[in-house]
Amino acid sequence: MAFTFKDFPAARDDLRSDVLSGLAACPKSIPPKYFYDEAGCRLFEAICAQPEYTLTRTEGALLASSLPDIAAAIGPVDCIVEPGAGECAKVRLLLEALHPAHLVVLDIAGAPLAAAAEGLSRAHPELAVTALGMDFIHDLEAADPYLPAGRRLVYYPGSSIGNFPPGAAVDLLARFRQLAGPAGQLLIGFDLKKDPLRLHRAYNDAAGITAAFNLNLLDRLNRDLGANFNPTCFRHYAFYNPTAGRIEMHLVSLAEQDVTVCGQQFHFALGETLHTENSYKFRRDEFSAIANAAGWQLAAAWEQDGFAIQLHRQSTTGDHPPEPC
Ligand code: AVI
Repeated sequence: MAFTFKDFPAARDDLRSDVLSGLAACPKSIPPKYFYDEAGCRLFEAICAQPEYTLTRTEGALLASSLPDIAAAIGPVDCIVEPGAGECAKVRLLLEALHPAHLVVLDIAGAPLAAAAEGLSRAHPELAVTALGMDFIHDLEAADPYLPAGRRLVYYPGSSIGNFPPGAAVDLLARFRQLAGPAGQLLIGFDLKKDPLRLHRAYNDAAGITAAFNLNLLDRLNRDLGANFNPTCFRHYAFYNPTAGRIEMHLVSLAEQDVTVCGQQFHFALGETLHTENSYKFRRDEFSAIANAAGWQLAAAWEQDGFAIQLHRQSTTGDHPPEPC
């Protein structure tokens, strides 16, 4: 069993500056990556089990039912690289179908990633597992020395790409080309546009788990930045914006109030919003435009109940941005 864990705490130090600049902006906003402290990770797992939030279950069912087909389309691979791997649950099926020699998993939440990856390494003694605790959005290049040579598959499931605005999604997918290497491929899952009411319900579950996930951000800022948010003075507010093609999540101030964060005071007017997340939904042509602009070309696609899994190869047309160096 070969297991390596490397933590990059320096690459995660921007909570303070991101939050201070986000609260000083108009409208106020905080990047969604900060949802995922320990409680946030648990709440996200609970969201995935809610009857209204079908995204994760649909993707799992689609992957399971199409696995032989997906594995045949991918062909032999030496290494799977999964950015944002979290609990490393989704990659298990692929490991069993593709039998790579190496698995490299990356996540901003280093400790839970290390625990999950070590468990995976125990279950697959033949597999060399490397876990990198890093903010891959910021510092993907730090992963380079840990990537083995050979045919690499970048696996990016869960419609996480939908949490980036289109321009940033192009940049991220272009940087994934570097993770994949010249002969590399990308297997990606994303949520398709569908009935807006269904989307609305998915982010407003009856049990209030998504609301608790959104509000947990304030608890995190209180704990990690010594802030004094009163979560009962904010309302979880999520809706589908069909013009922008995205779910927007907000925390709306229920009162005129001042909040102190890292010794700095921020004023919230009654009804003012703190924008916490966008979750873009795509048509096939919209996603192709993003992937093509990043230098990827669609090789195969599978769909079920408003969710898509696509396999992309490096574009050979040459009309794409150079790999970032
Ligand atoms: C992680 N990401 C794809 C989820 C989404 O649907 O955008 C995060 C989430 N936010 C609220 N519910 C789920």
